[in-house]
Amino acid sequence: MKRFWWIGLFVFVVIVIVIGAILTRMQVYAAPEQPIEYSHRIHVEKDIQCLYCHPGAVQSAVAGIPSVQKCMGCHNVIKADSPEIQQVASYYDEGKPIPWIKVNRQPDFIYFSHLPHLGASLNCETCHGEVGQMDVTKQFVKMDMGWCLDCHLNQPAEKVGRLADCLTCHK
Ligand code: HEC
Ligand code: HEC
Ligand code: HEC
Ligand code: HEC
Ligand code: HEC
Repeated sequence: MKRFWWIGLFVFVVIVIVIGAILTRMQVYAAPEQPIEYSHRIHVEKDIQCLYCHPGAVQSAVAGIPSVQKCMGCHNVIKADSPEIQQVASYYDEGKPIPWIKVNRQPDFIYFSHLPHLGASLNCETCHGEVGQMDVTKQFVKMDMGWCLDCHLNQPAEKVGRLADCLTCHK
């Protein structure tokens, strides 16, 4: 009878761990619900370039999210009577930014900049996946320290010293 209890406890602990692991993964790759149903697929299929909306990626640390003014530059005319676009227009009329929810976020103690990465001719898809096919933007990889280092340690030997230095990424 006593042994039965131990087996029961063991099975219970294993189940909790497995469910925990599944939930954590779901959390990591979950696509947050956005205030506007914005689809990358629709825009990229119309040949609008990533850098048209995210020019910061090749100019600075942050890629940036386009302003509501930029949306209205096209949507003043394109699909202006769609309900979703009217909602975009109402943010514009009230002079409020659209409160987009972040998909990829590094902790505050991390320094990351797009500039050196695009300078090293990596493309957006290496780190963000096929965003151009997504109707809802989601994270593609878990952007943890192991992920950064996996790539940094595989760079030319003379660069690895700096790229693996704690202070390169830690503020
Ligand atoms: C080396 C990997 C890498 C590449 C290449 C990369 N990104 Fe990023 N991107 C990241 C990381 C990491 C973050 C999260 C940064 C943070 O929270 O500080 C991010 C955040 C973003 C964000 C939201 C936050 C911000 O910086 O404004 C956008 C938009 C973005 N990336 C677009 C792009 C586009 C467009 C390209 C290609 C032109 C690109 N990224 C290439 C790793 C990458
Ligand atoms: C360079 C022009 C351009 C810009 C800038 C642009 N869009 Fe679009 N958008 C389009 C085109 C083209 C379509 C597809 C219209 C169609 O289906 O005929 C579209 C479709 C949409 C739709 C689907 C509308 C519907 O009811 O089918 C939404 C929502 C949308 N855009 C939101 C946005 C938001 C939010 C922004 C700003 C972050 C933005 N767009 C910026 C050109 C643009
Ligand atoms: C018409 C403008 C537009 C174009 C073109 C566009 N994006 Fe975006 N992007 C947005 C908007 C608006 C958001 C915020 C809403 C969201 O996350 O879906 C966003 C969010 C993102 C994010 C997530 C940012 C975060 O919160 O971490 C990434 C990554 C990204 N875009 C990459 C790309 C890549 C790669 C391309 C080209 C294949 C591209 N975008 C083309 C408007 C655009
Ligand atoms: C797919 C490969 C790849 C990934 C993933 C990646 N990096 Fe990099 N990183 C590079 C390359 C390549 C360079 C540029 C090396 C050079 O100067 O030529 C670089 C440069 C940098 C630099 C500038 C270093 C300097 O002093 O010039 C920082 C900071 C940095 N990365 C931080 C990060 C962080 C933080 C992450 C994870 C969130 C990350 N990187 C993920 C490849 C990557
Ligand atoms: C290429 C970039 C990079 C380098 C180099 C790097 N780290 Fe990190 N580190 C990260 C990122 C990104 C995170 C946050 C994500 C995570 O926790 O994995 C992190 C998280 C950590 C954490 C966890 C902090 C917390 O509160 O969660 C510790 C501890 C840490 N790093 C120590 C180090 C030490 C020590 C070194 C040098 C031997 C180092 N790191 C080098 C990118 C880097």
